[in-house]
Amino acid sequence: MSIETDVDQNLICDEAVRDPHTYFSRLRDVDPIYWNARHRAWVLTRHADVGAALRGTDLTAERITPFASAVSTAAASDGVDDTFRILEDWLVFKDAPEHTRLRRLVARAFTPSVVKARISEIEQTITELVADLDSSADLIQEFAYPLPAVVIAQMLGVPPEERDLFKKWSDQITALVFGAYGQEDRFETAAAGMLELRDYLVDLIEHYERSPGDNLISVLLEHEADDGDVLSREELVATCTLLLFGGHETTTNLIGNGMLALLSAPDQVDLLRANPDLVGPAIEEMLRFDGPARATVRLVKNEHMIDGRTMSPGERVFLVNLAANRDPEVYADADRLDVERRPTNHLGFGVGIHYCLGAPLARLEGRLAISALLDRYSNIELDVDPASLDWHPTMLSRGLVNLPVGLSV
Ligand code: HEM
Repeated sequence: MSIETDVDQNLICDEAVRDPHTYFSRLRDVDPIYWNARHRAWVLTRHADVGAALRGTDLTAERITPFASAVSTAAASDGVDDTFRILEDWLVFKDAPEHTRLRRLVARAFTPSVVKARISEIEQTITELVADLDSSADLIQEFAYPLPAVVIAQMLGVPPEERDLFKKWSDQITALVFGAYGQEDRFETAAAGMLELRDYLVDLIEHYERSPGDNLISVLLEHEADDGDVLSREELVATCTLLLFGGHETTTNLIGNGMLALLSAPDQVDLLRANPDLVGPAIEEMLRFDGPARATVRLVKNEHMIDGRTMSPGERVFLVNLAANRDPEVYADADRLDVERRPTNHLGFGVGIHYCLGAPLARLEGRLAISALLDRYSNIELDVDPASLDWHPTMLSRGLVNLPVGLSV
């Protein structure tokens, strides 16, 4: 059977945005190594293929330069060019050895003990946000969305009164990086946000150079690797933009998608209420069941073969994390949320050299956020039919626009 006749070619068509699990599981069943002519990209949906592709060296993460050249020749303003120059310094878009060097320099600012030291600050932010919720609330806009922005802004050393700006810039950049394909002005919007953020960070970095504080920028400024290597100023600015962006919408969506999944399975809510220690495994299961990483992009560097299909250098590949995480070859009863499952091999944070650097922070925020909601409210109910919820129409991320709930203490 030809898959072409069976599914909508548009990977962000209505169905693929609303219910990507059904859409991509059809691909996984019928053509797991699928060439999508509309997007001119391979689409891999099996856990084994996605994992192998992310761990191997046939595919390259260096996808910004070719994309930037295409956009620059097509239209763009100086601001867009400058934005691509910043993105080119993001370690997530680099291969070894440049990636190895940058990751080593940045990872020292993101050790588990650095994250742990932030627990009480994060708890306080959560307590304040929870206290502001009414009996009828939008869990995305009033809770899951502001939380990670405040946390990462605090960690970078942004003063409280300037944190709203951070959220705005993050949204603008998201439109570009997560592939909001329908949005016509996405390059200009992202460029405006990125350049304002860059100018802001240049000043903030100079400030902490003069008077260091208890924040990531000061740590990144003060440390050198054993061989004397340091981040250049451009790399430091780019890294801060990556941390802001990487830590914001993803964590919002972990909490949002996770709460939706939980509220749709009342037996799992009861189980979690009865066993609060299950919150750690529950977060892993939420990342597996309906995580924020919808797909990851790579380009083919060296000819890559799977099941006799040949991917040629230069071709684009979508590795669909969501579909891999529901692969029945790996997970029994894969379409069921089971907070006791312990899915240690899920691909919600990716795998291989680009495995999410912020995973310890995201896990901590997720655990504290979900526990706080369950502790504070004896009853949390969806206020709408889940089928009517709006999802952001993006290729790489999965997240709700709103999540209206009723809350009772
Ligand atoms: C639930 C929340 C999160 C999810 C689902 C998530 C997901 C991911 C995924 C799938 C990757 C791999 C991308 C690839 O292979 O191309 C990644 C990388 C990365 N993430 Fe996260 N992330 C989350 C939270 C965070 C946070 C809180 C931060 C930091 C504040 C962060 C920073 C990064 C960085 C710096 C990388 C690049 C690592 C590298 O290239 O070596 N992420 N993330």
